[in-house]
Amino acid sequence: MIAIENASKIFAKGTPNEVHALKNVSLRIEKGDFITVIGTNGSGKSTLLNAIAGTLALDSGRIKINNLDVTKLPDFKRAKYIGRVFQNPFSGTAPTMTVAENLQLAYLRGERKTLTIAMTSAQKKFLRERVAELRMGLENRMDTPIGLLSGGQRQALTLLMAAFKKPEILLLDEHTAALDPISAELVLAITQEIVSKYQLTALMVTHSMSYATRFGNRLIMMNLGEIACDIQGEEKRNLTEQSLLKRFEERHIHVVI
Ligand SMILES: Nc1ncnc2c1ncn2[C@@H]1O[C@H](COP(=O)(O)OP(=O)(O)OP(=O)(O)O)[C@@H](O)[C@H]1O
Ligand SMILES: [Mg+2]
Repeated sequence: MIAIENASKIFAKGTPNEVHALKNVSLRIEKGDFITVIGTNGSGKSTLLNAIAGTLALDSGRIKINNLDVTKLPDFKRAKYIGRVFQNPFSGTAPTMTVAENLQLAYLRGERKTLTIAMTSAQKKFLRERVAELRMGLENRMDTPIGLLSGGQRQALTLLMAAFKKPEILLLDEHTAALDPISAELVLAITQEIVSKYQLTALMVTHSMSYATRFGNRLIMMNLGEIACDIQGEEKRNLTEQSLLKRFEERHIHVVI
């Protein structure tokens, strides 16, 4: 369970460029929640994710992971709880290293140093099997430098690397935005599969109303640094793009996403 309590963040405070990126945001994310996050540019989505990951310090408020208050913990000390995939397929992997080496690095992260010297053949087999489960044929390209793969293939592998250590939360910030529509659908299907297979808790930012309604068990909409809508349960299951738009209209939320 992740609890965000009264989180606030103001950028460039006291200057003409002051932005209240998070305004007293509270959100309780239950174990197993797969939450899609939508909202216009600048509404605070990435700021929320950065605050959870600890790459950004809050001005006020608290963040708890399984009742452990991590508000003051720097990002590298929170890393074991967090899996992240960004919009750019080039972030998150080392391009000149092979698929196998990238996976090994991710797999060994957080393990005792002595284990980093060499992987056992059982560990290599485990990684190859996980890659095969992506059904992209990448298990036959374990020795290819990851930089030579397509954006979709890299995002699928980055997802896998973020997921197989079973983080407390998987943070996906528009991770399909740089992909063509077919690759985006494929990576979303893999996301869905990985979230359920590894029983992860996930926050997925998207600018697609279609993805936001189709995926996840819960949807939040950010507007001007606040959570303007939080739709879950039966209501989320029955949600359509049209009913979502209607909801925004009723609440006078201007939607440009
Ligand atoms: N490091 C920073 N310094 C100054 N202002 C920032 C910084 N990071 C974010 N902001 C501002 O805070 C607000 C929220 O930004 P944020 O990146 O969270 O938006 P977003 O909802 O992720 O938008 P997008 O859909 O464009 O990714 C924006 O007005 C942005 O310009
Ligand atoms: Mg953003």
